[in-house]
Amino acid sequence: KIIVLDFGSQYNQLITRRIREFGVYSELLSHRLTAKEIQEMKPKGIIFSGGPNSVYDENAFHIDPEIFELGIPILGICYGMQLMAHNLGGKVESAESKEYGQAFIEVSDDAVLFQDTPKTQQVWMSHGDLVTEVPTGFEVVATSENCPIAAMQNKERNFYALQFHPEVRHSEYGNDILRNFAFSVCGCSGDWTMDNFIDMQIEKIRAQVGSEKVLLALSGGVDSSVVGVLLNKAIGDQLTCIFVDHGLLRKGEAEQVMDMLGGKFGLNIIKVDAKDRFLSKLEGVSDPEQKRKIIGNEFIRVFDDEAAKLEGIRWLAQGTLYTDIIESGTDTAQTIKSHHNVGGLPEDMQFQLIEPLNTLFKDEVRALGLQMGMTENVVWRQPFPGPGLGIRVLGEVTEEKLEIVRESDAILREEIQKAGLERDIWQYFTVLPGIRSVGVMGDGRTYDYTIGIRAITSIDGMTADFARIDWDLLQKISVRIVNEVAHVNRVVYDITSKPPATVEWE
Ligand code: XMP
Repeated sequence: KIIVLDFGSQYNQLITRRIREFGVYSELLSHRLTAKEIQEMKPKGIIFSGGPNSVYDENAFHIDPEIFELGIPILGICYGMQLMAHNLGGKVESAESKEYGQAFIEVSDDAVLFQDTPKTQQVWMSHGDLVTEVPTGFEVVATSENCPIAAMQNKERNFYALQFHPEVRHSEYGNDILRNFAFSVCGCSGDWTMDNFIDMQIEKIRAQVGSEKVLLALSGGVDSSVVGVLLNKAIGDQLTCIFVDHGLLRKGEAEQVMDMLGGKFGLNIIKVDAKDRFLSKLEGVSDPEQKRKIIGNEFIRVFDDEAAKLEGIRWLAQGTLYTDIIESGTDTAQTIKSHHNVGGLPEDMQFQLIEPLNTLFKDEVRALGLQMGMTENVVWRQPFPGPGLGIRVLGEVTEEKLEIVRESDAILREEIQKAGLERDIWQYFTVLPGIRSVGVMGDGRTYDYTIGIRAITSIDGMTADFARIDWDLLQKISVRIVNEVAHVNRVVYDITSKPPATVEWE
């Protein structure tokens, strides 16, 4: 494997990901690891990531200098290059003109990492400081207009460094460069697969929890389901899952979770039917923020009540992903996330956290799920908000309105699936605004609800555009909803992007 030491760049997660794509296991680790700890891990290569500091900053991140004596190949990227130069006797200075964005480099013939890539190539720079003198034993192997030392190497010691970011797509041959490091320099074999990951994780989980018991809150979403299946493989009956059915789930969802995870995979699941609890708490409440708070708090209360009935649980498992870990560094991220997710659990429970997915990206989690035999419809489930249908019935939530949203949503999902669009449209659902309008059905006048269809394309939910769904398909959905769902006589399509609107209506 290749380890990436984290110096806080916003791109460092991408480095490990690119390397894993080559079939070489890679993980992002703290820059505080000592040379001895690294040696015990037996990595084939080490990468120093970029980072926002200057090596001269008072609180700049440093490394154990013994790392350079391990005989393991090292690649320094951006800050990592400056750190290498600084540690090995080169010179780092503040650049006259800071450089952000596209640049072109000229590469010399014997540049090891640039094998089989063009002499002139586009790269992506983002730096304030520069290496202005290479350490003894190094040669300059690439230059750009604003950066005379854009890459350096010491072939004898297998140290390489790049001022630009090979991990971002704008660096045209970045992938080839990383590949050259992994294969030509580090001699990795490229036979790592998701299967190895599963075995590795199982071993790790067993070592971590021993014979102790683990608790997991299942939401029915991809991440917690995959964690459940993985933990079940590793520790079987030592895992207890709590699945809170708050009555705000989509049609058939609770059954699907129970059938698949409880049935097929045999997870030990306590299903809590808390519908009445949630609905009574929501009675008479129409403010969106208040509704969200009530649902969130009640969820924690129900979970706590159930957890308190169990004995001897030491661990709490969570489906935290790599992307959930905040950029500022793996050292601090752990605590930030755990506060965020388990805030609200009684203090005397004192769980320890176990987060087996925290080195993976979403698509890797999906691949892991599929590899473990989970079905596509679970693994490719669209995002679903914690407060569920509670924020898709605008204003006060009643059982009747929930039913209308649930049924119309099921029709929408069925038609989108039939049209083969579930992967193209990032998220799609129906909402029930409180308005009623006049219509005519048969020979009679109706005065009934309007259903709004929301369908968006997005990368991460932060920004979104409304999906350009074919008119004929929209018509089909509209006709079915009006015909099949009682008390609906009108269907509208939401054509706003985010911003200015949000994805959810509340
Ligand atoms: P908004 O409405 O903020 O939604 O544009 C962006 C994405 O986040 C989802 N969402 C939530 N997810 N808890 C969640 O786990 C929530 O409270 C929540 N609110 C919105 C939303 O479905 C969309 O994918």
